[in-house]
Amino acid sequence: MEHAIADPLGTRRVVVTGAGGQLGAALCGSFAGARALTRADWDVTMPPPPLGELDLVLHAAAWTDVDGAEADPQGAAAVNVGGTQHAAELGAPLVAFSTDYVFDGDKRTPYVESDAPNPRSAYGRTKLHGEAAAGDDAWIVRTSWLFGWSGKNFVRTMLALGRERDEVAVVDDQRGSPTYVGHLADAVHELIELPQGIWHIAAAGDCTWAEFAEAIFEEAGIACRVRRITTAELARPAPRPAYSVLRSERDGAPRLPHWREGLRACLTRLA
Ligand SMILES: NC(=O)c1ccc[n+]([C@@H]2O[C@H](COP(=O)([O-])OP(=O)(O)OC[C@H]3O[C@@H](n4cnc5c(N)ncnc54)[C@H](OP(=O)(O)O)[C@@H]3O)[C@@H](O)[C@H]2O)c1
Repeated sequence: MEHAIADPLGTRRVVVTGAGGQLGAALCGSFAGARALTRADWDVTMPPPPLGELDLVLHAAAWTDVDGAEADPQGAAAVNVGGTQHAAELGAPLVAFSTDYVFDGDKRTPYVESDAPNPRSAYGRTKLHGEAAAGDDAWIVRTSWLFGWSGKNFVRTMLALGRERDEVAVVDDQRGSPTYVGHLADAVHELIELPQGIWHIAAAGDCTWAEFAEAIFEEAGIACRVRRITTAELARPAPRPAYSVLRSERDGAPRLPHWREGLRACLTRLA
């Protein structure tokens, strides 16, 4: 079923869950008048509070601690599966956000919507089950390597480290598309005019984390060297896909600007 969301007067009743997170903040900025629900307003592991009639739910609340999910998969599932089910129970058109980590990373060409998921981490498994919990009547946005002006993300971490060190060690054997939350949030307006289902929406272009770190220092004018290391050297608890570039094979899919353009927009916002 397709939802026609008429908005001639900007009177849609939109709620954003996870409004305290980096994507949630961007969605609140892009959807003027949206009701922002932080964890304090609604812990999504609990059934939804009465929110009245809604025209659109933008569900950005999630357990995003990838390594922490290995130690507490039930806790992660309560948020990423149970929370998404609760968001669907609101009964309004739903946009749910998922991840490139639903893929194993064994491909070397971009993952498209018809590729079979095979998550290697507990986080990826909970997000994949969360896609099912969103239901057939939802838009499921798989995106990757999010960064924005708030919260904990790679850009903000590199800016802080780069200002206090001469060198940082960064993984150079994982490739993906770093996606600016402002660009993603704006693309959701286009998405809700399209049929429901799974959509891959990530920045154009791709890079490794080390290449991304170098670009961050270059754009920010920080003189910090990047020492390229392997995923094995970093020894994190959760496995990550070695390759997780996402592209859409669907007609009319929203296209985002290149990740470097997203980086510049983010740095401007942070300045
Ligand atoms: N970050 C990435 O690189 C990335 C990549 C691909 C896909 N995604 C997906 O994109 C979406 C947005 O991610 P993000 O980067 O914006 O994450 P984020 O910055 O970590 O924000 C997630 C938000 O959800 C909130 N939250 C956690 N548990 C909650 C609960 N039980 N009830 C209500 N709120 C809760 C968090 O609140 P607290 O701050 O209080 O914990 C936080 O404000 C998620 O679905 C994520 O899986 C993220």
